[in-house]
Amino acid sequence: MCGIIAITTSSKANVSKMITTSLKKLEYRGYDSVGIATINNGKVEMLKDVGTIDKVNKRLSLENLQGTIGIGHTRWATHGAISRENAHPHSDCTGNIIVVHNGIIENYLELRNTLQENGHNFSSETDSEVIAHLMEEELKQFNQNLSMINAFKRVLTKIEGTYAITLIHSGEPDTIFLARKDSPLVIGVREDTKFAASDIPAFLEYTKKVIVLKNGEIATLTPQAVYIEKNGFRVQPKPVIISWTAESAQKSGYPHFMLKEIHEQPIALKNTLNTNPAEIMKASNKILEAERIIFLACGTSYHAGLTGYYQFQRILGKKPLYKVIASEYETYSHLIDEDTLIIAISQSGETLDVMKGLTPARKLGASIVSVVNVIDSSIPRYSHISLYTKAGPEIGVAATKTHTAQVALLARLALQVEHDIGLMSATEFTHIIEDLNTLTPQITRLIINQNEFKAKQLASKITNQNHAYFLARGYNMPIALEGALKLKEISYIHAEAFPAGESKHGPIAIVEPDFPVIMIAPNDWTAQKMLSNTEEMRARGAYIISVTEQDHRIIKRSDYSFILPEVTIPLLRPITHILPLQMLAYYTAVQRGFDPDKPKNLAKTVTVE
Ligand code: G6P
Repeated sequence: MCGIIAITTSSKANVSKMITTSLKKLEYRGYDSVGIATINNGKVEMLKDVGTIDKVNKRLSLENLQGTIGIGHTRWATHGAISRENAHPHSDCTGNIIVVHNGIIENYLELRNTLQENGHNFSSETDSEVIAHLMEEELKQFNQNLSMINAFKRVLTKIEGTYAITLIHSGEPDTIFLARKDSPLVIGVREDTKFAASDIPAFLEYTKKVIVLKNGEIATLTPQAVYIEKNGFRVQPKPVIISWTAESAQKSGYPHFMLKEIHEQPIALKNTLNTNPAEIMKASNKILEAERIIFLACGTSYHAGLTGYYQFQRILGKKPLYKVIASEYETYSHLIDEDTLIIAISQSGETLDVMKGLTPARKLGASIVSVVNVIDSSIPRYSHISLYTKAGPEIGVAATKTHTAQVALLARLALQVEHDIGLMSATEFTHIIEDLNTLTPQITRLIINQNEFKAKQLASKITNQNHAYFLARGYNMPIALEGALKLKEISYIHAEAFPAGESKHGPIAIVEPDFPVIMIAPNDWTAQKMLSNTEEMRARGAYIISVTEQDHRIIKRSDYSFILPEVTIPLLRPITHILPLQMLAYYTAVQRGFDPDKPKNLAKTVTVE
């Protein structure tokens, strides 16, 4: 949440144009307000306002600010309303110290009160502004006899909470000061230019050479150099070259990132399944050794975790498995010891709720296997084994390709465990892996192509509805939950998922003629019961939409059906059956006039609790 970018260059270029372009790439992290500050001939220039980057840029010409060093920010409000005053960057009383921040300063009220008693005037209600005033105070107290970096370090000792900070000072006009604690910050390296950002796509157009700043590290960037230290000791930076292309973070002719990412699923799945077998085998061993397993995640990743939970339940029999929404971790903390394995699932690898579970769990000796998309992010660094989904950068806030990639990787892991436990012969295992690797991208492409028009057509039918239900049974529930989440988060139609059998114990009360009910009804043990539940809904006049595999009984009872090919590998159903629902959510949002890439009040990477 909140996107940060900072650039310092020795080239003649004004950085404001690059900062504006980079902020566009970070807009998925927040779009309540935006701002940029540069230093031009020793003087700070700053522009900020409420609105999206395009709108504010049009109004204020952000990209015309002068200067070869600058910082920018796109905000997802935490402390303080969405207003110009609360938009970042923030400055101290003199206007010489400029800061942008992502995270939460927990003791900001206390700090603010003390600073105000010492005569500081605040211009915003944000927690972030205290950082600029603290820096001013430190420099003042030492009568400027303190180096900027030492003043910055002293500031960091005073703040509690989470942060990614970039700070510039007109007195040192080519240096960016950085610090990170629990909020992401990455450095981009080009010979004459250095970048710092919340995420790699921000500067991918300019460089692929990346240094991931680790928790507790402090850095300075000048156009020529990167200096990093931790606990007073210098850290040798280890740049990595990122394989993501700049195009992969662009829309490439699609009207929205979400639609592009839906269409990228075949390739994302192919790349993900082409995984390192050694890592999968190591993860399988951990699963077999563990006495209990906890699937820990949030949002869409939690739904992928649920598919893992059901798959492993089938294989592992009586071994206790738990599915835990990460923000609810405390409720399960009594289960954690050295015999516990946590399987943490996260697209960003930075979700604070997940980290807040992993940190105490690891201290108690639990093992951690993570399934993550962003390489070298916090969660894999905190894990014993990291399995990567290779979906490429996902920009749309509503996860699509990373979700199916997570499901595929968990399915691959489940097959490995099934083999290792002796439930599947080596020949059977080899065949099914081959099938999984070839069939998954093929069937995914086919379903997307065959159902996109239908999804668009159906969207026009439900576009004026206020509610929708998604019903399924057993291990198909994650599909219903994810389908409902997709529709709710981008089209703002109230959508809920229930076990189909449970719907008669309450939810059915509000069903009336034309109420959309989406039935997840594959050809499996749930089919017959889903049929009865469909009848119950039909009897109340519900508009039945089914996702089926050519089951004519259900098709006959539906007003609209997505008819999918028969799935020969059941593990694939959470992938195949979610595809039409992703497209339905997308087209409904578009037809209702909303931008599916930027759902209101949501951010892609959530680094607050
Ligand atoms: C946010 C996003 C969701 C995402 C969730 C978990 O709420 O809007 O799309 O599923 O965070 O994020 P993660 O990066 O851990 O998968």
